[in-house]
Amino acid sequence: MCGIVGACGALDFRDYLLNGLRKLEYRGYDSCGLFVTDGSFSLLERSVGVVDNLDKQVPTTFEHTPSVGIAHTRWATHGGVTISNCHPVYSFDRKVILVHNGVIENFVQIREFLAANKISFYGNTDSEIVANLIAYYLSTSAKDMLEAIEMATSKLNGSYSLAIVHLAEPHRLYFAKNLSPLLIGKGQGANYLASDQIPMAEISREFVDLKDGRFGYITKDEIHVYFQGQEEKVKLVERSSENLDVSLNGYPHFMLKEIEETPSCIERLIKNYVFHDEYTFDPKLLKIIERASEIIFLACGTSYHASLIAVDLLRSKGKLASAYIASEFAYHPVVMTKNPLFIIISQSGETADLLKCVPFIQDNAYHLLTITNNRYSSLARKAEYYLNLYSGVEVSVASTKVYQSELALLFMLLDAAFIKGHHFNELREQVKCLEKIIAHKEKFIPVAEEIAKYDNLFFLGRGIDYSTALEGALKMKEVTYINASAVQAGELKHGPIALISNEFPSIAFISEEKTAHQMRNGFQEIKARGGRVFVVSSKSLSLEDDDIIVCDSPLYLSPMSKVMVAQYLTYYTAIKKGLNVDKPRNLAKSVTVE
Ligand code: F6R
Repeated sequence: MCGIVGACGALDFRDYLLNGLRKLEYRGYDSCGLFVTDGSFSLLERSVGVVDNLDKQVPTTFEHTPSVGIAHTRWATHGGVTISNCHPVYSFDRKVILVHNGVIENFVQIREFLAANKISFYGNTDSEIVANLIAYYLSTSAKDMLEAIEMATSKLNGSYSLAIVHLAEPHRLYFAKNLSPLLIGKGQGANYLASDQIPMAEISREFVDLKDGRFGYITKDEIHVYFQGQEEKVKLVERSSENLDVSLNGYPHFMLKEIEETPSCIERLIKNYVFHDEYTFDPKLLKIIERASEIIFLACGTSYHASLIAVDLLRSKGKLASAYIASEFAYHPVVMTKNPLFIIISQSGETADLLKCVPFIQDNAYHLLTITNNRYSSLARKAEYYLNLYSGVEVSVASTKVYQSELALLFMLLDAAFIKGHHFNELREQVKCLEKIIAHKEKFIPVAEEIAKYDNLFFLGRGIDYSTALEGALKMKEVTYINASAVQAGELKHGPIALISNEFPSIAFISEEKTAHQMRNGFQEIKARGGRVFVVSSKSLSLEDDDIIVCDSPLYLSPMSKVMVAQYLTYYTAIKKGLNVDKPRNLAKSVTVE
């Protein structure tokens, strides 16, 4: 789970590589490094921590003008977070230098093979074995770098995108790709490589979206792509017109900016899926949804929580529906009927646990709809039907606006397929409600400052509010490191209440009339044991003393308001605790390893 940038030609390498890494830090940020050369001079700099640390190490001007350069931001999988495990990694003869994103599953066997051939290693990464394998073939049997790369990659099991430099060929940048994303950007007097379009957005208008199994090289003005030994015609596609803006625009943090982008994201979704007051979803897809014997959602983390709301909505319409965490489904698939529809939901579209589920769906010829926020992602490419979330880039590791877009899109899709209504107008009203919450965000600061004093926290809800509680607890624990967990409020007395004390508060959501009374009875039991309850309620169900009151919404849209409150509380709590809000420890934005 790493980010790669590289380039060949005439450009400001320092600026492209370092800023490119900054734009890819969402893919991992525990260490980083870069390598540049023109053949006579080379520079390898690596550093633990964020890109700003590396920036301080890299001279403001290079001794010579480089002709090729590569850089990498890492999220450790094999080997600890140390300088020797940072990329770029180099081969035993120091001639092959590369950056790698992915996981080589058979790296132990390859390492043994290389060790038997007297090749030693300086670090613990699976990436170093790839550099050595290429250098080994080049020094034994391959006629050139291309052949060495083809021979080496044919021995690799697993995922990789590689940007590779050979010291003797400083005017070429080699690459190989399988199961990890890699794009080539076409520029003026230079060509580029990157894990996604964002680092190249301002410099290339066209790019090549590399398919699995491809390898080749770029020069300053040529692009050569090979597959199974044959050169392929290069297919250039226009740069995405989607919002690739990754600047803070005056906000102190991306998390805050992205929470507040939610209304515009939902409006953009409505614009993309509603025309002349009619939904524009593919009628064939709507038929499949309608006729499916059951609907099975697969997702992870935040996206899984969004799918739980859709399951509730479907079940309320009498439709058989379930949601599974992808890492579980991949090994324990459950299909109860003959004609299911699978819906995969993923912000990034690169989540390995989800990719692992796809062969099962395809081998059984089940229908598959994929929803992602990146139409060029691996999951989007594998989709039978695809829907884009159009949320623009989400930089903060904690997903906020995309979760909301997932809810909104699922609501519209199921409305079109089952309810056959025009409830997008309710969604428009919901946007206004979210704008009101944003306008009054200062109210959340004292509540968050109170929460920041505690180490433990329950999120309580019943019915649809339990899904919100799950999402609230996930946000709180990943960003503030408070030990937060969700409890179905009725279950509290069956065990979890044992934890309640004056040091263990709860945040409770109330959106549903039929359980509001029972929720409040439960608060008495908590208070009787010294526990504090922060109540977040819908207006018509609120009491004067409730801590946060939001506007009334239709039941299946109410999670949007409650979750936005939970997002704000998380944000302000993390600020109070002085934490790195956008880059919580141990996490990366796209989880491309199992
Ligand atoms: C939490 C968060 C993660 C992701 C999960 C799935 O804020 O962002 O829980 O939701 O890793 O990622 P995607 O949606 O990219 O498949």
